Amino acid sequence: MPLPLPPPELPCGPLTLRAITDDDWRLEQQLSRCAEVVRWTSYPADLSEVEARSRVARQQERARQGATQRYAIWEDDVAHGTCGLGSLGQAVPEAMYALLPTARGRGIATACVKALLDWAAGHDRPAVTIVTVDGNAASAAVARRAGFDLWQTVEGDHRGRSATLHRWRWLADPRASAPA
Ligand SMILES: CC(C)(COP(=O)(O)OP(=O)(O)OC[C@H]1O[C@@H](n2cnc3c(N)ncnc32)[C@H](O)[C@@H]1OP(=O)(O)O)[C@@H](O)C(=O)NCCC(=O)NCCS
Repeated sequence: MPLPLPPPELPCGPLTLRAITDDDWRLEQQLSRCAEVVRWTSYPADLSEVEARSRVARQQERARQGATQRYAIWEDDVAHGTCGLGSLGQAVPEAMYALLPTARGRGIATACVKALLDWAAGHDRPAVTIVTVDGNAASAAVARRAGFDLWQTVEGDHRGRSATLHRWRWLADPRASAPA
């Protein structure tokens, strides 16, 4: 049985998560021009329009392949950032998120992660992970607030350099035996 995949749109309180469209290249470009996003995520720095459009096209292809579903985070007609689930071909997907500076400090990232968890809990996903780079206190706080526990700390690669990575895990059923 293939694993269920997230839908093109997810409700998130007053926000809506909409699968990335061609028009979202500007949002991707804005995020790529934000120092914290570039520091803590895999977003390339300072994307040109052509690069941002091709990044969107790659993400849409990855969604078609069932590998990653990335959403733009909408409040009315304002896009605040992106979030999504990767590793969808495996039972345990990985949540990701990045907000524009104007959207921070309102609990938006936590709300988005909870919307992703609601979907995961209802669709045969026993757990979800988040990976944060050591020192990213805001993202660690989001993971905690969304109900994740710190699971593993490993040395790994971040943007081509060795870094300490924290793996957080949320279990759909905390009483069930945890997946590996
Ligand atoms: C991580 C991020 C999405 C958080 O989004 P947010 O919706 O603004 O989250 P909040 O502002 O509500 O902050 C969540 C928590 O982090 C804390 N926090 C925010 N900025 C912080 C900072 N610079 N240092 C320490 N704690 C910080 C807040 O006080 C809050 O903690 P609390 O729940 O104990 O009050 C946002 O900062 C961002 O886009 N960062 C760059 C990209 C990124 O790091 N993505 C995650 C990669 S794993």
